[in-house]
Amino acid sequence: MRADEPAFGVYIHWPFCLSKCPYCDFNSHVRHAAIDEARFVRAFTAEIASTAARVPGRTVSTIFFGGGTPSLMQPATVGAVLEAIARHWTVAPDVEVTLEANPTSVEATRFRGYRAAGVNRVSLGVQALDDGALKALGRTHSVDEAMAAVAVARSIFARYSFDLIYARPGQTPDAWAAELERAIAQAGEHLSLYQLTIEQDTPYFGLHAAGKLVVPDDDTARALYDTTQDVCAGAGLPAYEISNHARPGAECRHNLVYWRAHEYAGIGPGAHGRLDITGERRATATEKRPEAWLSRVEAQAHGVVSDEALTSEQMADEFLLMGLRLAEGVDPARYARLAGRELNPRRIAILREEGAVESTADGRLRVTLAGFPVLDAVVADLAA
Ligand SMILES: C[S@@+](CC[C@H](N)C(=O)[O-])C[C@H]1O[C@@H](n2cnc3c(N)ncnc32)[C@H](O)[C@@H]1O
Ligand code: SF4
Repeated sequence: MRADEPAFGVYIHWPFCLSKCPYCDFNSHVRHAAIDEARFVRAFTAEIASTAARVPGRTVSTIFFGGGTPSLMQPATVGAVLEAIARHWTVAPDVEVTLEANPTSVEATRFRGYRAAGVNRVSLGVQALDDGALKALGRTHSVDEAMAAVAVARSIFARYSFDLIYARPGQTPDAWAAELERAIAQAGEHLSLYQLTIEQDTPYFGLHAAGKLVVPDDDTARALYDTTQDVCAGAGLPAYEISNHARPGAECRHNLVYWRAHEYAGIGPGAHGRLDITGERRATATEKRPEAWLSRVEAQAHGVVSDEALTSEQMADEFLLMGLRLAEGVDPARYARLAGRELNPRRIAILREEGAVESTADGRLRVTLAGFPVLDAVVADLAA
């Protein structure tokens, strides 16, 4: 798929997990009573209908069930959501339908049902190939259980990916290289490799502040990042985005919708959307709390609590912020159309001299591997 080819994605958020991992600040909640999935299906269906009324006639190119832990959903729930999407929009024949799954044996038993419901790609949160590290991350699965879930995924889905978290306490580049080699041997076409971030309002934040959780220093983190690039590129899985690696052509098309600043609908608690309505790009966000979201949808057919037209400056900033995460970079002409002005050639020249950005043969501007670790500063500089 070309970068400028129009695409429309649908994101569905499932906001529940069996337990809360101490590093995670995603909109995920633990409930001790059973979840009323039929009620969620009605609410998802209503919100899909109300969103489709605002952006009718789209062809859905990608669908992503994210969480939380969508692999706790019954396959029938997933199927009902996919049917609702198909009732309100046209679904492309080659639609990519991804579901995030936790790699436990219980969840793997549902994979066949997901495939029958229409899912064609799974993304598994393996996180580490070291039992001690998994325990420290608060994960409820072992390495063996996770690898068994990956094997089930491989036997059912043509496309699967898994996530690992690196720059964990005490991790050395050599140990990470060995772990990564093992991961690549099990990976198919795609791996997401996230550097551990200490998020506010998580147990890890308190532990880190109290000195009880020590993460690698900047130099080690940089060495771990460099190891990631070397090992993955050497194995034919180069980074196509800061944290995402794929064999060429096997990129997650849904995430490309975000990074290429295309249009997407956000359905479910705490979901974000970008909708193009009468010449404006609108940023939407829904109520985060699951039960409050249900009540809102039941009262007014949608859970949207924020819905703002973006200014051209905001659209242009977002375009840079997202697009420069990609190895393919951005088209400066598209920036100029959004911003109403060109990128500053002097700033580009300075960043180029510093080795942080480069221009491609077809005129795109991209951040170099050396520039990625300081991406925020590069974007701030270009957007200023
Ligand atoms: C929505 S979450 C998880 C999906 C699924 N619930 C799971 O945990 O397996 C997506 C991914 O974000 C990553 N992640 C979450 N919190 C992180 C953090 N603080 N630092 C780095 N990566 C994080 C994890 O790799 C996780 O798999
Ligand atoms: S990492 Fe995954 S399983 Fe853990 S709390 Fe976050 S969303 Fe839930």
